[in-house]
Amino acid sequence: MVRIATGQEGEGLAGVEADLLAVPLFEGEDVPRELAGEAAGVLKDGDFSGKKGSSALVYNPDGLRSPRLLLVGLGARSSFGLDALRRAAATAATRARSLKLDSAAFALPVAEGSAARVAAAEAAAEGAALGLYRFDRYKSGADGHELSTFTIVSDDEGVAGGAETGAKLAAGAVLARDLQNEPSNTATPEYLAQRAREIAERHGMDVTVLDRAAIEAEGLNGLATVGRSAENEPRFIVLEHGRGGDEAPVVLVGKAVTFDSGGISIKPSAGMEDMKYDMSGGAAVLGAMETVGSLGLPVNVVALVPSTENLPDGNAFKPGDVLALHSGKTTEIVTTDAEGRLILADALSYAKRYGPAAVIDCATLTGACHVALGDHASGLMGNDDALIEEVRRAGEASGERAWHLPLFEEYTEQIKGNTADIRNSGGRYGGALTAGAFLKEFVDYPWAHLDIAGVAYSAKARNAYTPKGGSGTPARLLVEFLRGRAGDGGAP
Ligand code: BES
Ligand code: MN
Ligand code: ZN
Repeated sequence: MVRIATGQEGEGLAGVEADLLAVPLFEGEDVPRELAGEAAGVLKDGDFSGKKGSSALVYNPDGLRSPRLLLVGLGARSSFGLDALRRAAATAATRARSLKLDSAAFALPVAEGSAARVAAAEAAAEGAALGLYRFDRYKSGADGHELSTFTIVSDDEGVAGGAETGAKLAAGAVLARDLQNEPSNTATPEYLAQRAREIAERHGMDVTVLDRAAIEAEGLNGLATVGRSAENEPRFIVLEHGRGGDEAPVVLVGKAVTFDSGGISIKPSAGMEDMKYDMSGGAAVLGAMETVGSLGLPVNVVALVPSTENLPDGNAFKPGDVLALHSGKTTEIVTTDAEGRLILADALSYAKRYGPAAVIDCATLTGACHVALGDHASGLMGNDDALIEEVRRAGEASGERAWHLPLFEEYTEQIKGNTADIRNSGGRYGGALTAGAFLKEFVDYPWAHLDIAGVAYSAKARNAYTPKGGSGTPARLLVEFLRGRAGDGGAP
């Protein structure tokens, strides 16, 4: 694990001692005077333009104590945002690691003493830690070289605090990624419950885990039904963080189907291995709770994670079956592959007992959402425009973008039932929206839904700080949202 530190500003960039000094530069702008000699040459020759994503390595730069200077492009200053900095820091950290170096230092492209500099340190620390992530615990003989120190060049205490926060944000996302990448033969519902117990233990939260009998007794019939045919028992995980008191909590709900075969409506075998990622919503919620705990956010938060496998067997639920979900509403099963909405419906009606200020659920819910938005945004739906805007902004700020999709009444019409209240599928068209419309039947509080089917994981790296595999999304979005709420929430 890399140590993220700050320091070494006293003597300026020339005095920084690291195996590699990374200096982010804006497109078309001059280099800092201290670097002028070496770096200007690279710029003049046209090898480095400062374009976003570009970089150039200079060896033994004149006048610098560090033996390597890495120029990293930020793109145009006019379109600069924190995400460019996350990427630049990740580029610097991973480059240093692949050169098998021990230490890297990173200069902040933001003026000293500004609030923006603290935010920049946060983004840089976050980006470096996220970029260095890899999941190789099952690989024999994997290249084990780790970068040992990533230093953000600054002597400012506020900046040190920002770097620490950034590291905590990354740690939550890393926890989520580890859970996602873990295959379903180890990452069972009970495994997730155990990880939740550890989070609770680390941060003094309350944890409750319902087993199969308790799930049935509680009337969580969607979860009990999907989980009925699985050998690895379902779990309903409840984590509670906060200051107590009667302040209405924010409730986070995450779908955690540890393997989705489709059940009796079985999926085609090609690509089915990706369905180990069908617990990504739950992973992100647990990751967010890890950061909420380590930051000690002064806000009441409840996490609900319904977890099960979806497998066929002689005891499995079947197309045509009708069941009453936790709220009492009945649903007709059109396809056992639309299992996520059944377990989420239970969790959403369970959430009512908290009198929540807001509920956000996240789920790898529909392939249709992936088709609609591609790899670059979660689908965002809900029943409260102010909350939707708040979630959208949290997505923008965290680099985990979400895009608002409609829940017109017509989508609810599309799932009206023949023999029961609602059907669990509305057919091919508007699949993300009929899934959202299904969930909407179970809420009576401000609610937002994130369909993360397109963004939760990827077979190839998405950007410098999002390697292949689980992305951890939207753990950082959720924390950003809660930080906003904590700021609104009065004195801690
Ligand atoms: N877990 C899947 C959705 C999914 C698909 C996530 C691909 C990530 C990648 C979900 O349970 C599912 O199977 N949804 C169906 C719904 C349909 C049967 C109404 C889908 O999207 O095809
Ligand atoms: Mn499914
Ligand atoms: Zn699923």
